[in-house]
Amino acid sequence: MSEPLDSGTPRDTLSRRSFLKGAGTVAAAGGVLGHPAHGEAPAAPDQDGPETIEGTVEVELNINGETVQVEVEPRTTLLSALRHRLQPPLTGSKEVCDRGDCGACTVSIDGKPAYSCLQLAVDLKGKEIRTIEGLGTPERMSPVQDAFCEHDASMCGFCTPGFVMATTVCLEKHPDADLDKIKHEISGNLCRCGTYPHIFTAALDARDRMREDR
Ligand code: FES
Ligand code: FES
Repeated sequence: MSEPLDSGTPRDTLSRRSFLKGAGTVAAAGGVLGHPAHGEAPAAPDQDGPETIEGTVEVELNINGETVQVEVEPRTTLLSALRHRLQPPLTGSKEVCDRGDCGACTVSIDGKPAYSCLQLAVDLKGKEIRTIEGLGTPERMSPVQDAFCEHDASMCGFCTPGFVMATTVCLEKHPDADLDKIKHEISGNLCRCGTYPHIFTAALDARDRMREDR
């Protein structure tokens, strides 16, 4: 695997309070706290922050092409909203580190990969959010999902939805990506089971399948 990118993350010094304030500023500037492969430094919520924030707000989100109203606290992350606030919940995005370290929660926001555990749901009105549930179904999988199954690119499976999302976004943006490019683009995702060789084989196979469909 290519050398992990040094994100220069301020995670050790950033409090939840400053994360909440800063996230709104970043979103307003047109960026979202995203994915280190794309140069955005992940900022992790500090678990020592304020314990409760009173009140909820209703936010309109566009998830997998559908507009949904979700009741959230201002501090609710997109990951938490997906898994715990939606009816029915979307639990494909996994909560593993919950602080921007692992990529298991990766979704696509406006066509870019993003850690949903670092996005505030209230900041995402008007954004196109795509989750693993939006890619395909067990009966009709996307090329990337199909290739991951065929090449056995999963052991425990906790990292798999995130890798599938990061690979999908990579191949949509870079249909002719070579192995080095794929490794770079999905370098914000970690697999503790070490299935990287299978993941890379699956990604290359998915690239070829998507090329044929073009
Ligand atoms: S759960 Fe979001 S990066 Fe690990
Ligand atoms: S398959 Fe277990 S963490 Fe990747």
